[in-house]
Amino acid sequence: MGRLRDRWAEQRRLEDHRRLEEDLRSLWREACTGVGLCQYIPMPTGVTIRTPRFGALRNRPGVAFSVELLPGGEPDDIIKHADRLAHTLGGHGLRVEPLAGRWVRVVLLPCDPLREPFRLPALTISRADQPVLLGRTEDGRDLFHVLAEAVQLAIQGQNGGGKSAWCYGILSQVAGAADILVTGSDITGLLLGRAWDGTAHRPWQAVGTKDLEAHAVMLDALAAEMDRRLDAMPPRQDKVQPTVQNPLVLVVLEEFPGLLRAAQAKDKKLAERITSTVLRLVSEGRKAAFRVLMLAQRFEANAVGGGYARDQFALRLSFRVPGESLVMLHGEDARKLGPTHANAEPGIAYLSTPGHELVRLRVPYLGSYGEYCDRIARHGRRLDPAEGQGWAA
Ligand SMILES: Nc1ncnc2c1ncn2[C@@H]1O[C@H](COP(=O)(O)OP(=O)(O)O)[C@@H](O)[C@H]1O
Ligand SMILES: [Mg+2]
Repeated sequence: MGRLRDRWAEQRRLEDHRRLEEDLRSLWREACTGVGLCQYIPMPTGVTIRTPRFGALRNRPGVAFSVELLPGGEPDDIIKHADRLAHTLGGHGLRVEPLAGRWVRVVLLPCDPLREPFRLPALTISRADQPVLLGRTEDGRDLFHVLAEAVQLAIQGQNGGGKSAWCYGILSQVAGAADILVTGSDITGLLLGRAWDGTAHRPWQAVGTKDLEAHAVMLDALAAEMDRRLDAMPPRQDKVQPTVQNPLVLVVLEEFPGLLRAAQAKDKKLAERITSTVLRLVSEGRKAAFRVLMLAQRFEANAVGGGYARDQFALRLSFRVPGESLVMLHGEDARKLGPTHANAEPGIAYLSTPGHELVRLRVPYLGSYGEYCDRIARHGRRLDPAEGQGWAA
């Protein structure tokens, strides 16, 4: 009795598989024709349409099938139309994996793997050469960045895209590191400032718009320290290693174009002073263990201190932005992503880093601003009077 039932179930399963395979075969053909992924072959009887040939449906959970590339075709031809093809097949996206010879495997992704927010676990680093969690990719990998690497960071995104919230996550991870100093300028006074009261970092943060001069004074003091380090560089060395005495200086510039605009409105000279100091920090700071983390709604050259300044940023992260802004930071390859990303949810971003392809990711989320304040209060490095900090006293 049991054996019969098993056979019956097996029969049904094979039947379902075959039906799904047939449905997908014809949908695939329609989808390819629809997006123009096909060749028109003249025949005596009329024109025949040839599409990348559907092989077989894989016999496993999830939907994946083999496809033979068109003559002269490349996997890229499918990747280029991935989203549209997937939507016709009833999925969210597709992944294309090479098989043997002219065959590839197409894996249909049923829904956006980045749909659900993910909470930032209680991560902290104790030194600048430890990795900081940036976000999670579509294939579930966690991506990290090591601040000790000589890379400046540019973050763009429209209002509400998730720039500041991402920064809460980054700063909460580094606030306790013995060899990192979190400095910078924040006209909003939320990212830096009060949340940092009582920590060793707070004296090096200029906040608010009441005293714009204070931002310029603080940035100039940072540039002076950078010069001191460059002058004091030991022979046969070309960069400063972050230490407790000479910490890595993370210069956070929240809403930097806003700071420039406010300065401009008050006094043109002040705006020029801030622009030229920041340009120096960005371009000369790498060797001196200075890292600039600049946030802007869009990285237009004239909003961030010029095209030369913008070129200094090797790590680039874009939250929701118009297509043009995405291309501006990530190059022509990003153009096809523009329309979708222009409506991205908060916390979804594209990341470019040196030597790596553009990746889409969801950044971790602390949940609330109060949680950020709690983490800074809990982990934020305190000034140790015994050790002092030399220049940063
Ligand atoms: N990673 C995230 N996951 C889920 N929601 C987020 C995330 N980041 C931001 N948000 C939501 O979006 C809102 C705006 O984020 P915020 O960081 O202030 O944007 P921005 O600084 O780019 O203007 C936040 O108040 C929060 O509700
Ligand atoms: Mg913000």
